[in-house]
Amino acid sequence: VEVDGIAHRTIWLTEDPGTVSIIDQRWLPHRFEIVPLRELDDGVRAIRDMLVRGAPLIGATAAWSLYLAAHRRVAAGQPIGQADLEEWADALLAARPTAINLAWAVHRCRRAVTRTGGPLADTPAETTLGRLRREAEAICNEDVDTNRAIGEHGLVLLRDAHARAPERPVNVLTHCNAGWLATVDWGTATAPIYLAHRAGIPVHVWVDETRPRNQGAQLTAWELGQAGVRHTVVVDNAGGHLMQRGQVDLCLVGTDRVTRRGDVCNKIGTYLKALAAYDNGVPFYVALPSSTIDWKSDDGIREIPIEERSPEEVSHVQGIVGGAVCAAGITPPASPCHNPAFDVTPARLVTGLITERGVVAADTHALAERFDRVAAADGPSP
Ligand code: MRU
Repeated sequence: VEVDGIAHRTIWLTEDPGTVSIIDQRWLPHRFEIVPLRELDDGVRAIRDMLVRGAPLIGATAAWSLYLAAHRRVAAGQPIGQADLEEWADALLAARPTAINLAWAVHRCRRAVTRTGGPLADTPAETTLGRLRREAEAICNEDVDTNRAIGEHGLVLLRDAHARAPERPVNVLTHCNAGWLATVDWGTATAPIYLAHRAGIPVHVWVDETRPRNQGAQLTAWELGQAGVRHTVVVDNAGGHLMQRGQVDLCLVGTDRVTRRGDVCNKIGTYLKALAAYDNGVPFYVALPSSTIDWKSDDGIREIPIEERSPEEVSHVQGIVGGAVCAAGITPPASPCHNPAFDVTPARLVTGLITERGVVAADTHALAERFDRVAAADGPSP
């Protein structure tokens, strides 16, 4: 994606092989700041403190963090053993609990360096480093291709919606940020929107602000604006009203984890949008790469760990005043606040899952069949 005319991904290895660059998303849309990651702890902090966020990008950052940890060892002439790898993996897995892509990426990297079967300590550290680099690169490149494929499949839905009402733009409602900032490029929920826009289909996006951190108001709105896509930011509670008035053709959101039966975990507030969509007969679609499917989980409400973040994200809002980004308190200081970061939308409220292999019903058999899995098969689960 281009930012002010310059092509960017959200994470990349720099010319210095000991440095990975990311966009510090905490300051968008006010400041576009690129920051370096040089060691494992930088990556853990970037994920935990949400310099990077969004399920696929969290996974990509974890992969590059393992590479950076190995790079440090090699630079210091030290070996890399199995215990090191496990310690690094544990630190990353503890950074954020809900997005399954984190465990998926760590699991993939672990497999890439232990594939040969022998103890890791018998493998030269340079070889392990090379394998981790290739795996991180592959995860990033595949993410771009996957999202593009999601875009092509989702485009069909937008084309159909346009054909039904060609006299006006297709109105899409989205929640949080499942855009290119949440992935390596393209985004999941935004990929069909970008392709529709390029194809000349008029699209207008209702952007939920997405309290408490306002990923919609701050990130999705900025992204869509950079791409020239028409959009309007609304408060989180406006969606039901817009749907009642026929102003939403379809909802299109991302997800942090989908269970094998199709329950969808996404940013807090997604469930309420799905309920409103169901009540108003508005299709509710979820875009995801298959790396977001947790094949070991079935009942999302009971089984998916929901991250609880700091109450300060509720008691304060971040904004820009006189050129400086600052936080303003909005609650009585003595009032407790509670901040669950995600919720689960049951599969019965989901019209379809837009994946790299096409649009699939949110249903155990449809998912297993499309992804050649035996229901309850293997896969990472933190
Ligand atoms: O807390 P965040 O900003 O990491 O939450 C992000 C979301 O909820 C996204 O919708 C999800 O990760 C899908 S990203 C393609």
